[in-house]
Amino acid sequence: MAANPARAPSGGGSPPPRHVAIIMDGNGRWAKARFLPRIAGHKQGVDAVRRVSRAARKLGIEVLTLYAFSSENWRRPEEEVRDLMGLLRHFLASELDELVSEGVKLRVIGDWRGLSGDLVAMIDAAIARTVDNPGPTLVIALNYGAQAEILAAARRLAEQARDGTLDPVSIDEARFEAELETADLPPLDLLIRTSGEQRLSNFLLWQAAYAELLFVDTLWPDFNEDTLAEAIGQFGRRQRRFGGL
Ligand code: IPE
Ligand code: IPE
Ligand code: MG
Repeated sequence: MAANPARAPSGGGSPPPRHVAIIMDGNGRWAKARFLPRIAGHKQGVDAVRRVSRAARKLGIEVLTLYAFSSENWRRPEEEVRDLMGLLRHFLASELDELVSEGVKLRVIGDWRGLSGDLVAMIDAAIARTVDNPGPTLVIALNYGAQAEILAAARRLAEQARDGTLDPVSIDEARFEAELETADLPPLDLLIRTSGEQRLSNFLLWQAAYAELLFVDTLWPDFNEDTLAEAIGQFGRRQRRFGGL
């Protein structure tokens, strides 16, 4: 295969990431700093999603995975949850045509079938409209929790073993991974969290095993093409060893 200079490692660091995930955090603090209601921060956050997913496509990132709503976010006040679901409806309605025309494949991970019926129908329709697109892939994590994802995988394997269709000895990392919601996506290369918090908040725990972690102070509504390019630049300067030398 001919070398693609755009994907060549710079200065001996890592080649560009194929799969980038972002914990989009800090909408509330963005709004608070401006004496605005939290919903104003979430609205700006949706603009950032639009901006950053476009920028990721320009940068040639194959898969962008965005943490939009965690399985723990139900602990927020009912009104905020309702606002977030409203913004999700708005995002799907307003962005779908562009995603379709740009050839983006939409994927949703998490227990999104547990959301309200109209949203489930919208998501189903959106996925169906992009299913034959060549990619890049935009993955939205909705009502997602990594521990639940891992448990569901373990449970399915245990059921197969109980039914005699799976030999427990054959369960290795690859077999386990095939049961995760990210099965058949490229390995996670870079996991970014905005807003200065340094925790994973139950996101992609299995997949992050060898991802590069990057915690940036930028609040999600302020994240843009430049911050993404800077993050990719930082990734390029990391030395990934995967346990070797
Ligand atoms: C991230 O921003 C959006 C979601 C979790 C849905 P936050 O709402 O968590 O913003 P902060 O952390 O309160 O600033
Ligand atoms: C993580 O952010 C979830 C999403 C970005 C969707 P949170 O703001 O919910 O995380 P914690 O509660 O600070 O850990
Ligand atoms: Mg937060």
